[in-house]
Amino acid sequence: MPTSNIPVITIDGPTASGKGTVAHKVADKLGFHLLDSGALYRLTALQALRRGTPLSDEHALAKVAEHLHIGFTGEAIFLSNENVTDAIRAEEVGNTASKIAALPAVRQALFGLQLGFRKAPGLVADGRDMGTVIFPSAQLKVFLTASVAARAERRYKQLIGKGISANMDDLLMDLKARDDRDTHRAIAPLVPAEGAHVLDTSDMTVDAAVEQVLHWYAAVGK
Ligand code: C5P
Repeated sequence: MPTSNIPVITIDGPTASGKGTVAHKVADKLGFHLLDSGALYRLTALQALRRGTPLSDEHALAKVAEHLHIGFTGEAIFLSNENVTDAIRAEEVGNTASKIAALPAVRQALFGLQLGFRKAPGLVADGRDMGTVIFPSAQLKVFLTASVAARAERRYKQLIGKGISANMDDLLMDLKARDDRDTHRAIAPLVPAEGAHVLDTSDMTVDAAVEQVLHWYAAVGK
């Protein structure tokens, strides 16, 4: 099958909108591959932080992105054979990821890597620019969102559930700053793709959101 015929579902949206969880479940249900594109920016950020790469050095950061040795096994994420699944979820890594994601050379360095995830029988890709930049020909595009308050609460529960201390005011501030950076950056800003279905999950369970996406997918091409 030519790559362009391999079905892709893109799920874009802001931080903590639940798109990661929804994307996982949709991919599971359909037996599709999964691309967590945010993880690629987080892996780049983690590597740069560990190496002390200056966040002002776009060229050096792009080199870091280009030479990542990554692995995805089930839900686990590896960097040079080290399991960094939890390490990349740290707030500092997320904030750094959002800063370096505004740099064109870093985005370019991760472009080809992301296209490579389009494999039969299909792909669910979650991120910020999956429907607008990386897979503009996707069969189904979804923009998942939720109010800042709902997202901060989810993130709070997630962190506390993992035994990580969290402060609601700090989380709200971080979320707003990250939203602002992701939405207003010059390159690949966070906006719904043309033709995307917008789903506000503020008052919705994860399973209901998954059902809605599957319902839209079942209707594709009909
Ligand atoms: O989705 P997640 O929170 O893991 O993404 C971390 C950061 O990576 C985001 O704040 C965003 O700035 C960036 N990102 C991006 N484009 C994507 C996915 C993530 O710019 N496709």
